[in-house]
Formats: sequence, C-alpha cells, structure tokens
Amino acid sequence: MIDGKTVLFSGMQATGSVLQLGNYLGALKNWVTLSKEYESFFSVVDLHSITIRQEAAALRSGARNILMLYIAAGLDPEKACIYYQSHVPAHSELAWILNCFTYMGELNRMTQFKDKSAKHEANLNAGLYTYPILQAADILLYQADLVPIGKDQKQHIELCRDIAQRFNAIYGDVFTVPEAYFGKAGAKIQSLQEPEKKMSKSDENINASIFLMDDRDTIIRKFKKAVTDNFAEIKYDPENQPGISNLLDIYTLFSGKSIEETVAHFQGGGYGDFKLAVGEAVADGLKPLQERYNELKADKEYIDKIIKNNAEKASYVANKTLRKVKKKIGFPELIR
Ligand code: TYM
Repeated sequence: MIDGKTVLFSGMQATGSVLQLGNYLGALKNWVTLSKEYESFFSVVDLHSITIRQEAAALRSGARNILMLYIAAGLDPEKACIYYQSHVPAHSELAWILNCFTYMGELNRMTQFKDKSAKHEANLNAGLYTYPILQAADILLYQADLVPIGKDQKQHIELCRDIAQRFNAIYGDVFTVPEAYFGKAGAKIQSLQEPEKKMSKSDENINASIFLMDDRDTIIRKFKKAVTDNFAEIKYDPENQPGISNLLDIYTLFSGKSIEETVAHFQGGGYGDFKLAVGEAVADGLKPLQERYNELKADKEYIDKIIKNNAEKASYVANKTLRKVKKKIGFPELIR
C-alpha cells in the first residue's frame, strides 16, 4: 500500500529483444487490465538479466524494445510507472540488505535456480543463486500488494513473502506482504514443439515460441507445425493432450470464447483447421500491439521522456522504503 492505494508490481527480464506469447498471456495482458485499477509499477529488470552473460549493445536495445512493448500492449505510461530497474539504485541496495535475511537453504530449494544452473554450468555465478532476493527487493521497495505473474514465478513470490514476514517480525510493519496474481487461463503457456515444457524466450527451436513481433505468416506457420497428439479429438485434457489443451488456452485468451464453446465449435473437425484458426486469432490479436510498437519505435523523444520521468517517480517511492529500512536496521543517519 502507498497512501492508502493498493499497489501492483511486476517485471520482465531484458534478455532477448522481444517477448514471447507466454510473457504476454501469463503477465503483460493482465497488467494492462489490472493497471486500470491500481497504482502500478512495471520494471524492465535489466539487473536480473546479467545473471546470464549479455552483449552490451544487445542488452541496451533489448531493454528498450521490451519497455516499448509494455506500452504497445496497452499500458499507459502516464499512469503506470514503467522504468528500468538499473535506473533505481535502491533495488541493488535493498537486495544486499535482504541477502542478510535469507537462508541458503531457502535459495537451494528454488527450482528455477536448479534449472538455470543446469543450463549455464560454465557461468554458475553467485547472482544466479541470489537472483530471487533481488526479485524480493523489487517487490518490497514499492510496498506491492499484488504481483501479476505466470506460474513459473510462484515459488519466488512465496520466498519474497517469507523474507518480508521475517523482516517485519524483527522490525515491525516495514513491508507490505505481497500476493501473487494469476490469470484464470494463460499462467502457463507451453512450448509449441514440446508441449510438456513451458514456452520460453531462450528456447533454441524458434518454432517452439511465438514472438510478439512475429509476422502473420510466421505465426500461422508456427501454429500449423505445433506438436499435438494422435487422439484426433479436440478435448481439454492438459495431462494427456497437452498440445491441444495449450492451443485451446491460447485460442480462448484471444477469442474471448470459453473452452467449452471452443471445443463444441471445433468438435468433429480436424486438428489442421483448428490450428489454422488459432494462428489467425493470434495474428489478429497481436496486430494492434505490433502497429503501436512500430509507431513508438519511431518516436524516440516520447520514449526518452517516459524513461526519464518514470525513473524519478520509481526512485522517489523506492527511496522512501529504503530510508525506512535503513533506519530500522540502525544504520547511521545521513548528515546534510
Ligand atoms: P521472465 O522475464 O522470465 O518472465 C516475465 C513474465 O512472464 C511470465 N511467463 C509466462 N507465463 C505463462 N507462460 C509462460 N510460458 C511464461 N513464460 C514467462 C513469467 O511468469 C513472468 O511473470 N524473475 C522474473 C522477473 C522479475 C519479476 C520481479 C517478476 C524480476 N523481478 C518482481 C515479478 C516481480 C522473470 O525472470 O520473469
């Protein structure tokens, strides 16, 4: 809570220059809806990105593209505070403090650390391990009540809650203890090529993911190639028919129709027709975002102004929390 208002916080990594459909359906789409009601902060979390080696120019341009995609998806940057994490030093400062309030046993249990460390054996840096602490700092700095995310981030929010409660138990009510928010559908969009695993920006198979700036033909082609099953029945059964169920989830999120209506509509038809319909619905649904993105890309001054103003707005709120934390801990006050 800030000044009696319910606060929303979320973020995305600046890895890769474009978001994938899971980022959109699991998170961004819900941000747009929820931001109309809440005081909102959406960060492009570039500090998190360097846990994996990045090329400087690619990180810089990727971060900017992602910030523009936030706006292109429908966030209003005059209302929602859209900013780069690295522009607000308080994130790094609070992360250090929270390092001292988090147990290694807790970090050892993080499934995303286990997955990522298996993938990046040659660069098993400490940042990859303490990553969830920086994420907790992100959220707690803004006194966020609600954190809209996909299912893969659930464990990180649970850790954030534990850290906040531990800190509050020692120092009094310093942090709001946040809740995770998941959409009714879309919190777990699966790979189009291996539907038993989640869709991910870093998947080496480009046919596994839909990127938000993919053109219409590419989107339709990727859906036509989507891996399904041999049951020859359109049915919502994520356990036994993960491919078809994933396509049903995606279709309902773009068409606004329910799973039941969709199943009834495509019942008896072949998978080919259904896949084509999903591809068309996604291509149509992403078109306004893509058009807006191209407009924003051409308007450097407008984007720069947003970056500047929102870095100041975010810093103001974050520093307020940080000052309180430092005082409670017992660090000497600044003499001005
Ligand atoms: P990231 O950048 O991997 O993903 C951004 C958001 O997209 C969601 N998401 C998905 N949702 C459904 N299906 C998928 N296949 C899928 N793939 C990704 C993620 O759940 C996430 O909501 N650690 C975070 C970024 C972060 C953050 C934060 C999030 C840093 N600080 C504070 C919330 C609050 C991450 O790497 O997300």
